[in-house]
Amino acid sequence: MTRQTKWMELCSPIEMRGITFKNRMMRSGMYEGMATERGEVTPELESWIARQAAGGAGCIFPGYTNVCLPRCMPFQTGSYDDSHIPGLKKLADTIHSYGAVAGLQLAAAGRQANPNLFFSGAEAVMGPSAMGPSPMYQAACREMTEAEIWKAVEDQAAAAVRAKKAGFDIVLPNAAHGYMLAQFLSPHTNKRTDAWGGTPEKRFKFFEETFRAVREAVGPEMLVWTKISVDEPWSDGINLDEAKIFIPEVAKLVDAIEISGGTIVDNVFMMTRGEIPIGTLKKGVGGIVEGITSELINGLYGIRDSVKFEETYWYNHAVALKPLCGDTPLILTGGHKYPATMNQIIKEGTADMLSLARVLAAEPDFPNDVLDGREDPGKCSNCNKCLVEVVLGNKLRCYLADDGYSYT
Ligand SMILES: Cc1cc2nc3c(=O)[nH]c(=O)nc-3n(C[C@H](O)[C@H](O)[C@H](O)COP(=O)(O)O)c2cc1C
Ligand code: SF4
Repeated sequence: MTRQTKWMELCSPIEMRGITFKNRMMRSGMYEGMATERGEVTPELESWIARQAAGGAGCIFPGYTNVCLPRCMPFQTGSYDDSHIPGLKKLADTIHSYGAVAGLQLAAAGRQANPNLFFSGAEAVMGPSAMGPSPMYQAACREMTEAEIWKAVEDQAAAAVRAKKAGFDIVLPNAAHGYMLAQFLSPHTNKRTDAWGGTPEKRFKFFEETFRAVREAVGPEMLVWTKISVDEPWSDGINLDEAKIFIPEVAKLVDAIEISGGTIVDNVFMMTRGEIPIGTLKKGVGGIVEGITSELINGLYGIRDSVKFEETYWYNHAVALKPLCGDTPLILTGGHKYPATMNQIIKEGTADMLSLARVLAAEPDFPNDVLDGREDPGKCSNCNKCLVEVVLGNKLRCYLADDGYSYT
């Protein structure tokens, strides 16, 4: 059957390093909580990814994997051991079987590690600089030594090789959402005064060393992307001005840049926007997430207005940053719902691809519908229950139908 081409630009292919993406829609990394305790891929995770890939997006990223211990989240897929490769290969093969390009996200938790998930006393919550307890996990963070920083660079490169052996086309060390790469970039979390901090150039050093090591490890054929925060929930964190300094340098090291913002342990709703599901959060009081207390929940009422949902909420950042990317494609995540707007963003050249997360959890077939000319917006209500439930240790799914909305 010939597809309609109503959304011509959005549905057009794009090529990078000889790899063709069948359209400009990608499934953004979305943590599933479906791996085994030791991070191995399960049949359930495989079928979830198969369902997402069957929906027609040109590129599929499973949820982010941890390149080392400790972890940020329970039942997280691992990329920190060779034993993870066979399971990861099943995911890459599944994605390829639907004609999509397969990408794998890599991240180290750093200060975002949850001590309730430690396997041994050898694990530590550590980051560029010592910090007090994180709001979500109530875990204080100690400063990394020089040797630990170089080990963290090596961990990313080793995990990238595992992704390559598993058959992924893209490897994406995640510099967004407050993970270790973002921790080094951010003036809020990196207060070092040695070679790794103190000026924007020095805060960039960990990013640069990591991406050089990853490229060297995987060779020239594989795509190396990043997802990077361009805004954080602190006045002294990464913001658009900081991003303008980093992005031209980032563009020299990667094949594509996905922009996002927020952090997991401080204000995760800055990443997704929409409702703060107070009732779901209340279920977590006294559970594996130490910081979910009645006091924290009461405090969240105060930030509701700052995380209100807006369509395509990182658009203005993309407008400002795209000219600084040179020839490196920019991928825009966050609140893409209306096919007409999505097509316009590609048409006008503000972004080269769009990455979609919740809209595909709610309606896996959204990309196929768009390819067929759908005009209706995605049905995801931005209730954010999916997000809070995975943080509490439950498996990823959409809760829209539970609220009485039938979308099938
Ligand atoms: C449940 C859930 C899990 C997520 N997991 C990841 C992840 O593993 N890696 C990542 O980079 N972003 C993650 N995100 C953020 C999404 O990739 C995406 O950038 C964000 O949700 C905005 O897109 P959307 O409005 O289409 O949901 C997650 C979001 C949700 C809701
Ligand atoms: S639970 Fe479903 S409707 Fe709610 S934010 Fe997640 S994907 Fe959207």
